[in-house]
Parts: sequence; C-alpha cells; structure tokens
Amino acid sequence: MAKAALAFSGGLDTTVCVPLLKEEYGYDEVIGVTVDVGQPGEEFDEAYETAEALGLEHYVVDAKEEFADLCFDAVKANATYQGYPLGTALARPVIAEAILGVAEEQGCEAIAHGCTGKGNDQLRFEAVWRGSDLEVIAPVRELGLTREWEIEYAAEKELPVEAGNSGVWSIDTNIWSRAVEGGKLENPDYEPPEDIYEWTAHPEGETTIEVAFEGGVPVAVDGEEMDPVPLIQHLNEYAGKFGVGRTDVMEDRMLGLKVRENYEHPAATVLLTAHGALEDLVLTKNERSFKKGIEQEWSEKAYQGLTFAPVVDALNAFVDETQDVVTGTATVKVSGGNCRVVARDSEYAVYSEEMASFNTEDVAGIAQEDATGVAKYHGLQERLANNVKKGVSKPELATDGSGDVDEN
Ligand code: ARG
Repeated sequence: MAKAALAFSGGLDTTVCVPLLKEEYGYDEVIGVTVDVGQPGEEFDEAYETAEALGLEHYVVDAKEEFADLCFDAVKANATYQGYPLGTALARPVIAEAILGVAEEQGCEAIAHGCTGKGNDQLRFEAVWRGSDLEVIAPVRELGLTREWEIEYAAEKELPVEAGNSGVWSIDTNIWSRAVEGGKLENPDYEPPEDIYEWTAHPEGETTIEVAFEGGVPVAVDGEEMDPVPLIQHLNEYAGKFGVGRTDVMEDRMLGLKVRENYEHPAATVLLTAHGALEDLVLTKNERSFKKGIEQEWSEKAYQGLTFAPVVDALNAFVDETQDVVTGTATVKVSGGNCRVVARDSEYAVYSEEMASFNTEDVAGIAQEDATGVAKYHGLQERLANNVKKGVSKPELATDGSGDVDEN
C-alpha cells in the first residue's frame, strides 16, 4: 500500500489534492497533516470537518512553542523583510519538518503540498522535504491546476468544499503575522478596505507597553512574566486594539515576481521596536553597525525558508554573542497606529549620564578641552581633498596647527 502525506488545510487546493494523489500519482492511501502554528479556530474546524467528510486520516501537530522560539530568534536578529516581520516565511520550515516527521513515522513514500508554482511556499516546503528520501509532489503546480478547474472538479467529485468558495482574500495566519492578499488587493493602487483587518482596530487611543528582555528574549509585559506563546498572543490582542502593526508592502518574491501584500502583526511590531531600542542602549556603535549586516542576511535566509541553513547557525552565533546584555526593559507608546519607544533601562547600558551630561565636569580623567585635538583632526582628509579639487596643486598643512590647508 503506497501512502502519501499531504500538507492539509481543508481549503480548496489541498482538498482536491486528496483524490488527485490517488488518481494521478497512483497512491492507494493519503494522510492529511495540519500543523498548528496559531491559526484561528475556524481554520482547524474547516480542516477537521473536511478531513472527516473526505474520510481522510488526519493528523494535527502542535508546533506553536517551537514556532514561538523561532520568532524570538527573529526578534534577537531584528528580522524583517521589506518591512514584513516574516510570519509566513518563518512558519514554513517548522510546518515542513512537522509534516515530514509524521510522514516518516507513518511509513509514507511521498509527501505533497497544495502550493501553486508562483509563490514562495513551494520553495520553502521543498527545501526541507527534498532532504528526505520521500517523493515530493506538488499537484497544483505539476498538473497546472487553476482555481476554476478545481471548483469544477470538486463539484464533479462531490468534494466537501464550501460553495461559493472561501471569501474574497487569500489569508495566511499564524501567531507572528496575518497576511492578506488577492482579489482587488492585487491592484497596488487600490486602498485596502478596513474589513481586511482582523487583528488591528482602526487606529485610535494610546497607551504605553513595557517589555522586559533577558538575553534578548522577551520575558514579561507590563511586569507580568509570560511564556513565549501567550506573550505573543497577548500583545497581538492588546497592541492590536491600538491599531499597531499594519504594513502594506510591494514584496519581491523569490521567483522575482513583485506582489502586493498586506500584513497585521501587532506583537511583532511591539517586540521588534522594544528589542531594537534596548539594543541601542546596551550595544556599542561597532556592534550595532556590524549587526545590521547580520540582520539583513538573517532576514533574507528566513524569507527564503532556510532557517535550518548552516549559515543561519553562524549568524545566530554572532547574534547570541551580542544578546547577553540585552537584558532590561523598553517601553513603547502605541498611539494612532504607531509604535515608538519612549523609555529604556538596563544595568548593561553603555551609557554614563555623568559623561554625557551638559554639566561638563571632568569625568574619568577626561576634560572638555581634551576634545580640541580630536576636533582639529576631524575632517582633515575632507578639507585636503576639497582643496585638491579646487586646483591647489600642492596641498600643505597649515603650520598653525589648525589642520587647515594653506592655499599658496
Ligand atoms: N508573501 C508572504 C510570504 O511569502 C506571505 C504569503 C501569505 N499567503 C497568503 N495567502 N496571504 O512570506
């Protein structure tokens, strides 16, 4: 009995894949696997009901905690891609691993997804699965299916898909973000109607939220300690009420297509803002600027679904080396849909109020006049270069010690 495992959501695409894996690919048995990364309850209801109506053997794997840990790695790396905090992208390798685990356990010979040939998800799933011995199947892509064909086929086969299909938008939700695309939103010039948003209220009102970090990891909100999953869920709900965490991006997909995406991610916005603000206090200038490049690489790899790559381990090693001191609190003000830092505190602050103060007493043996020498040198090369441009053939240093170049 040849068996195939299918990434199953109960939506139209994955529902038509069930008979197609038998008819077109010759598998006798199909099992469906749904991985919980914090989708809303209705999505599970849809998966359960459809699986039952199909007579599909259905497995559900709870990967929320593992996923939340990865989201916190993303916080440590201040990760965003073109303004998007990477919810869908980060979830895919976690989902792919979980499905592969079930497929191997259940003795499957193949593993399948219902992604189209245009998106990123096919690449993210297969990047994980192609490391196994299982046959990888992508029916929607390989058979060139269209939505219209799927609807007709489902009707013909009397498959349990909702008549009139499932709403105007294509939505992907997990605890880190809610992505909305398709329909009229495909026109970048079309302003999203308020009803695409579910997590964020129309921006109004304001409050402050204090986040505590330990070693770069969020551990408490407004003084209350929380585990990662409830902490993220709490912030989505709480900060969402103030309209925080909406982005509308022109996103460059891996295949080169530009697409218009709308996202909601209140918790990610609060945590990334607070984490960045705390780092600004405790990291040195050199750490901050070098880390920017690391963050860029981390985000690119995450977008590509390659969080399991050796280079990401190496990037994480750098990030982790910087995070011990990212311990303390940062307070953000959420107001009118914006989120900005208003306070930060850490025992590891690379900051001396005494030294930075305008009351310019000598501190640590350094007097105000000591900056004079530095000031003389500052911009020396630039002054020289400009003189050369102006046609001063032999620039000479001024002998008055000012660093100015004599023109003669
Ligand atoms: N474009 C995003 C990504 O590739 C999210 C896609 C989410 N899917 C959706 N149906 N809205 O990471």
